[in-house]
Amino acid sequence: MINLFSFTTMQLDLSSPFSLATLRYSQVVFLMVPTVLFCWFLWLLLFRQWCHPKDKRLPPGSMGWPYIGETLKLYTENPNSFFSNRQKRFGDIFKTHILGCPCVMISSPEAARIVLVTRAHLFKPTYPTSKEKMIGPEALFFHQGPYHSRLKKLVQASFLPSAIRGSVSEIEQIVQRFLPTWKNSTINTLQEMKRYAFDVAMISAFGEKQDLEMEGIKQLYQCLEKGYNSMPLDLPGTPFHKAMKARKLLNETLRKLIRKRRQSGRYGGGLLGVLLGAKDHDEKLDQLSDSQIADNIIGVIFAAHDTTATVLTWILKYLHDNQDLLDAVSREQEGIRSKIVEANRGLTWDDTRRMPLTSRVIQETLRTASILSFTFREAVQDVEFEGYFIPKGWKVLPLFRSIHHCADYFPQPEKFDPSRFEAPPRPNTYMPFGNGVHSCPGSELAKLEMLILLHHLTTTYRWQTVGDKDDIQYGPFPVPKSGLPIRVNRRNKSAIF
Ligand code: HEM
Ligand SMILES: *[C@@H]1O[C@H](CO)[C@@H](O)[C@H](O)[C@H]1NC(C)=O
Ligand SMILES: *[C@@H]1O[C@H](CO)[C@@H](O)[C@H](O)[C@H]1NC(C)=O
Ligand SMILES: *[C@@H]1O[C@H](CO)[C@@H](O)[C@H](O)[C@H]1NC(C)=O
Repeated sequence: MINLFSFTTMQLDLSSPFSLATLRYSQVVFLMVPTVLFCWFLWLLLFRQWCHPKDKRLPPGSMGWPYIGETLKLYTENPNSFFSNRQKRFGDIFKTHILGCPCVMISSPEAARIVLVTRAHLFKPTYPTSKEKMIGPEALFFHQGPYHSRLKKLVQASFLPSAIRGSVSEIEQIVQRFLPTWKNSTINTLQEMKRYAFDVAMISAFGEKQDLEMEGIKQLYQCLEKGYNSMPLDLPGTPFHKAMKARKLLNETLRKLIRKRRQSGRYGGGLLGVLLGAKDHDEKLDQLSDSQIADNIIGVIFAAHDTTATVLTWILKYLHDNQDLLDAVSREQEGIRSKIVEANRGLTWDDTRRMPLTSRVIQETLRTASILSFTFREAVQDVEFEGYFIPKGWKVLPLFRSIHHCADYFPQPEKFDPSRFEAPPRPNTYMPFGNGVHSCPGSELAKLEMLILLHHLTTTYRWQTVGDKDDIQYGPFPVPKSGLPIRVNRRNKSAIF
């Protein structure tokens, strides 16, 4: 999500504070002895922490250098080959050490299922504290147990198909506002998709009726987002500091809005309406506090918009590179378009259920791009796991991307081929939205907003990429280079319009 799942919080500065070249030989020797001793102590200190006293069998793998572990390798190698090289050498479960934490990486569907589903209570979600502060510590991602499941039920309820089917025309209107502004110009696909997905997230969070506070909330949120992937240094002037300031103001604005809706007794639509009415559904429970509501609203907007925007960007890339597929998708959408035009009505939920090819393109994009390459969990106690021992506090990372790119489950994994989804994938091998208690509650909304956009885009427009072709950038999700600049034009064909 967002960059919620990113871990770009630590940057390593390798430029040495002083240069050896300026020192004389004697000085070098003089400095060497204590340095070597110091390193040796450091090594002992850190290494002892890894060698668990119980002497049980840890998973195979290399821990790299003390402290920095294999972080540098992860950041300098292509992440795909980092994972696949180790998987080849050590198997589906291996240990490593990144960002100062011992980790166990998991790349078999069965083992990932154990972590995420069957023994999920032993593996809690874990995020850097700076991210928790920015999103709000009471957002559901950070919790396990009764608080998490209460909130999860509420969030799920507000994003079920039955709850979102009424938003189709609202979302369609957003699409129809955006697309004409792209015509005849070069756009940054990722930036534009973010603006689109953000507007959709706002109506799902607050309902269709937009309050006066909305403009302020939008702007503060944007300030918050800018600092999200920065170094967590809370000093005046840093992006992180600015983001935290915006977070404080956002807190106040949201609380004002919450109090206003509570007092008027009109809870309004969207997730906010559902959270405000939470007590009415279950008399035994207290109502949610203002902070609990505010943190979860911000959390859902975070989770919803970058992810969806990144996937849409990849879809445009894949359709551009596969013109036959684009033609086929366009034909599917034209079939629906002509019915709509004939009946003189807008797109409906039922129309979106009749887009099998377009849906498979979305599925295959989610697999190929695997924008959330993995997720983080932490062992809450010592765990016996598939014949190995995982000490308490170790991170455990199910590697979604490795599973999605394994030829045993997806033959010719590097090929973009939506037809592979004509048959359902093997159980537990396809997890673009995660699995188990923390799986994504917004998957139906994400797919819906992608379908609606693709409907209008493919029936009316064509796009050409501008500049370098195939580079990938990690920011922190894998995205086509520079956010995929494209030039958008109206289609030549005028069959139905
Ligand atoms: C294509 C777009 C999306 C993708 C690929 C995606 C993917 C994911 C994944 C993999 C997780 C599980 C993370 C984990 O287990 O650690 C997750 C969680 C979550 N997603 Fe999404 N998501 C998308 C869109 C959305 C949308 C539109 C919403 C808005 C409703 C949303 C809300 C959430 C929330 C609230 C969670 C946390 C659930 C929990 O911790 O119980 N996501 N998402
Ligand atoms: C929001 O404000 C309330 C009350 O002042 C405070 O208790 C809470 O910690 C704040 N939340 C954040 C994320 O700053
Ligand atoms: C866009 O370009 C087309 C063809 O080049 C032209 O006919 C049309 O007037 C242009 N539209 C705008 C809004 O500039
Ligand atoms: C439209 O047709 C013209 C001439 O046939 C062609 O040069 C142009 O690339 C086409 N535009 C699109 C968007 O397909």
